[in-house]
Amino acid sequence: MRVPYANYGPRVVPEDLSDEQLLFLTDIFPTGYTGVDWGEVKGGETVAIFGSGPVGIMAAKSAWLRGAAQVIVVDTLQFRLDKAKATAGCTTILWEDGPKDVVEQIRSLTNGRGADVCIDAVGFEPDRNLGDRIKATINFEKGSTKVLEACMSAVRRSGIVSVLGVYPVNYDNFPIGQFFDKGIILKGGQAPAHKHIDKLLEYVVQGKVKLDDIITHRLPLSEISHAYDIFKKREDGCVKVVLDPWK
Ligand SMILES: NC(=O)c1ccc[n+]([C@@H]2O[C@H](COP(=O)([O-])OP(=O)(O)OC[C@H]3O[C@@H](n4cnc5c(N)ncnc54)[C@H](O)[C@@H]3O)[C@@H](O)[C@H]2O)c1
Repeated sequence: MRVPYANYGPRVVPEDLSDEQLLFLTDIFPTGYTGVDWGEVKGGETVAIFGSGPVGIMAAKSAWLRGAAQVIVVDTLQFRLDKAKATAGCTTILWEDGPKDVVEQIRSLTNGRGADVCIDAVGFEPDRNLGDRIKATINFEKGSTKVLEACMSAVRRSGIVSVLGVYPVNYDNFPIGQFFDKGIILKGGQAPAHKHIDKLLEYVVQGKVKLDDIITHRLPLSEISHAYDIFKKREDGCVKVVLDPWK
């Protein structure tokens, strides 16, 4: 195997830290942190995160590191919210009855103003109902933008929406009117992980943040197919699997 620029990625890490303590510095921690960084969190803000998967939980941990006053996490699955509460100590909202109810709850937690920063850590593959599927078929779209739209409704005027979740194609009915009327700042894309890794490694070394507490499954490489399956289908309480080739 040839790895171009292989000397660019690696870091020297302290020997007294375990692989699991450091593993998530390679992707999901810098990604979650990027959402908060794009949100320009300086201290005292309310940050609402949609999606309580590995990326959403890392964004919640990052929001506290940057001094947020209130961190709210939204998901359609209670066990994922329980994990966010246990590992990132945030307020949780279960998306049960659609976006309107969630947006109302975020407004009531912020004196009617809306969150300063909303982070979309779900992307184009949220849980979809029949209406979402029909709309996607008619518009030749992939998935749905319902979470991004909820973020834009839940953010305060002139607030920031950070889009970490992936959107692979164009979408009709993008709420451009709301974007303009509220003066929303919209940022998104691939996270520039290298920009943050050294600083985030330091936070881990200093014990300011713990990352391995989101692991729910440790499996040998021979069970990789099962591991992907339970993560994709969100079964067996799965939040994050670590595959151990030596197991
Ligand atoms: N921007 C980047 O550089 C970057 C890097 C890594 C991952 N990602 C993307 O981030 C996204 C999240 O990754 P992950 O590993 O946490 O995925 P995940 O699928 O485990 O998490 C998504 C969560 O969203 C929840 N969800 C579904 N519908 C919802 C709704 N309507 N409202 C709120 N929550 C809802 C799911 O229950 C799940 O817990 C994915 O799109 C992934 O591809 C982006």
